[in-house]
Amino acid sequence: MSTISIIAAVAEDNAIGKNQELLWRMPADMKRFKELTTGHTVIMGRKTFESLPNGGLPNRKNVVLTSMPEANFIGCFACESINEALELCEKEEQIFLIGGSLVYKLGLDFADKMYLTRVHTNFPDADAFFPDVNWEEWEEIERQEFQADEKNPYAYTFLTYIRKK
Ligand SMILES: NC(=O)c1ccc[n+]([C@@H]2O[C@H](COP(=O)([O-])OP(=O)(O)OC[C@H]3O[C@@H](n4cnc5c(N)ncnc54)[C@H](OP(=O)(O)O)[C@@H]3O)[C@@H](O)[C@H]2O)c1
Repeated sequence: MSTISIIAAVAEDNAIGKNQELLWRMPADMKRFKELTTGHTVIMGRKTFESLPNGGLPNRKNVVLTSMPEANFIGCFACESINEALELCEKEEQIFLIGGSLVYKLGLDFADKMYLTRVHTNFPDADAFFPDVNWEEWEEIERQEFQADEKNPYAYTFLTYIRKK
């Protein structure tokens, strides 16, 4: 059985994006994202795909959710529903739901695990947000806190949660 994980970088006010882009450049978060997802499968919404500079992410199986699967998603499989995407990936050991808001919202019903980077600032003018989570259903199993530094403009915390049994 696959492990399905949500992975997201989320501001204190749950902001995740604006104008189809990320809200920050946080190399430490990018590094964690790359380490966790490389060699595995990533599922993303069409808008997140379009925000990537070079199409599908290298060294990963990429799946895009879209109502227009006939469009050209370079380096990716395209699926019309999360169920279709999960069926396509059923033999994969680790599946990561990498955003954006719509995919996280759908994914909360399917995910076993969440890797969040909590970015300790607010972005009131963001236009994409992480969905509300019922925290009663999740157990924190790992936490690493970091201060801002010359490369990462905000303090941040790496958090890992698993769904309670
Ligand atoms: N901070 C982070 O960790 C993070 C991570 C990822 C993305 N983001 C940000 O999030 C924003 C994008 O998020 P978003 O919510 O606007 O868009 P999104 O979730 O990336 O993509 C939405 C699109 O996905 C397709 N889709 C979603 N659910 C579907 C379903 N059930 N069946 C078929 N297709 C489905 C639809 O594509 P069609 O319109 O083609 O039908 C929909 O328009 C950007 O600002 C991005 O930078 C942030």
